[in-house]
Amino acid sequence: MSEADGAKTETHDPAYPQKYLEFMRTGWRDAQLTPQAADGAARYAARRARLAAAFPGETLIVPSGHEQVRANDTNYNFRPGSDFFYLTGEFDPESVLIIRPDGEATLFVRPRSPRDTDEFFKDRMYGELWIGRRHTLDEKAAELGIATANLADLPDVLSGLAPRGTRVLRGFDHTVDAAVLPWGERDRELAWTISEHKLVKDAWEIAQLQDAIDATVRGFEDAARVIPGDRPVSERLIEGVFGLRARHDGNDVGYSSIVGSGAHATILHWIRNDGRTNPGDLLLMDMGVENRNLYTADVTRTVPVSGSFTPLQKQVYDLVYASQQAGMDFIKPGVKFEDVHTTCMRVLAEGLHDMGILPVPVEEAMQKDSMLYRRWTLHGFGHMLGIDVHDCANARSENYNKGELGEGYVLTVEPGLYFQAEDDLVPEELRGVGVRIEDDVLVTAEGCVNLSDGLPRTSGEVEAWLGTQREQGFRLPS
Ligand code: GLY
Ligand code: MN
Repeated sequence: MSEADGAKTETHDPAYPQKYLEFMRTGWRDAQLTPQAADGAARYAARRARLAAAFPGETLIVPSGHEQVRANDTNYNFRPGSDFFYLTGEFDPESVLIIRPDGEATLFVRPRSPRDTDEFFKDRMYGELWIGRRHTLDEKAAELGIATANLADLPDVLSGLAPRGTRVLRGFDHTVDAAVLPWGERDRELAWTISEHKLVKDAWEIAQLQDAIDATVRGFEDAARVIPGDRPVSERLIEGVFGLRARHDGNDVGYSSIVGSGAHATILHWIRNDGRTNPGDLLLMDMGVENRNLYTADVTRTVPVSGSFTPLQKQVYDLVYASQQAGMDFIKPGVKFEDVHTTCMRVLAEGLHDMGILPVPVEEAMQKDSMLYRRWTLHGFGHMLGIDVHDCANARSENYNKGELGEGYVLTVEPGLYFQAEDDLVPEELRGVGVRIEDDVLVTAEGCVNLSDGLPRTSGEVEAWLGTQREQGFRLPS
């Protein structure tokens, strides 16, 4: 294979002598795979059928996405687009799902590197001696329960499609986006339909989420075991220890871990994690394991590094706890998403008022044209959770933030209070204090159940749990 065929060599690679090339082309036995049906494969087919039924007689295209460059010739680890994965269970980059007008689905994938070209040992992007064995088209079809076709044939297939009657999930694959012109607003309908199909989780999905959450509980225990009460450690030690658990027990972290000690806890997405824990600080950890089927947990705990809350820290913590509990008590099928928000925020606003911080009466602050309490609460009460940490993000507003909760929804409940270090409107002793408590709940017929109740929530339980973890000591996952 020449470089023009796609193989790219780097300046630090030696040249290929002819004798070596000829030697590498001979003497290989074919390694057979025995494909196993993917976990939940039948479910992916049912999801495709449901989507096809929503757009009868149309062609639907959902790409997986490409690897992204991290720097020069190194890429980030690839993770397939969530909607693509939801419909296929396929992990490889560049794959494209096409559902035809009759509902039949084909997955276009890159088949394995043949041994009759030099790709398998020369191509650092696709060669099997660089990245490992891929599947043949038949192996992939058997594993995922879907007809497969060679990715090389995709351009011809796309150029034969009329834009009218074809919808594309855009933003994942520039070659697909360019090959099929938009059909008005209809691509957005495809995106919101997939998101809305994902709102209700079935029993298998709930088991996946529980699996991710259980691994997350283990990860928080690991983290607690490496936080000493009497001396600082780096926030990145905690990030790293949790990341080890995530890679060992799951696929990865579901989002960049937020580990904020002291005033860093007041920064919502503190992912630099370049600070240190100080005895006396509160430490906020917002971390979630993504499991092997790409469902993620999203859990936050705030702990006193010393082992016990000061009276003031406890007052703030207990207020956030009361807000979270009020939200959980309120959640059941039929309640409005925004009323859960109001329920949680009212508790916080009342607490801020009682502390003499809120400068207006609670009722005034609760008005939509005021929301002054939000200076210290900053964000919403929670979000849907699933394959994405912020799942179902393309759902129409009337079915999500302006809609009602339904049985089978899984969402986070995560109120917080954040007193910035430079906030002149709060007492000095509160400056640089941040607390969030975040759990993952399943909406049931009667109310909700807390899937992440394997971790402590009350201030007293948190102190006892931290002490127990420290006594246990850190052990590597096995
Ligand atoms: N856990 C991060 C977030 O919900 O934004
Ligand atoms: Mn969250």
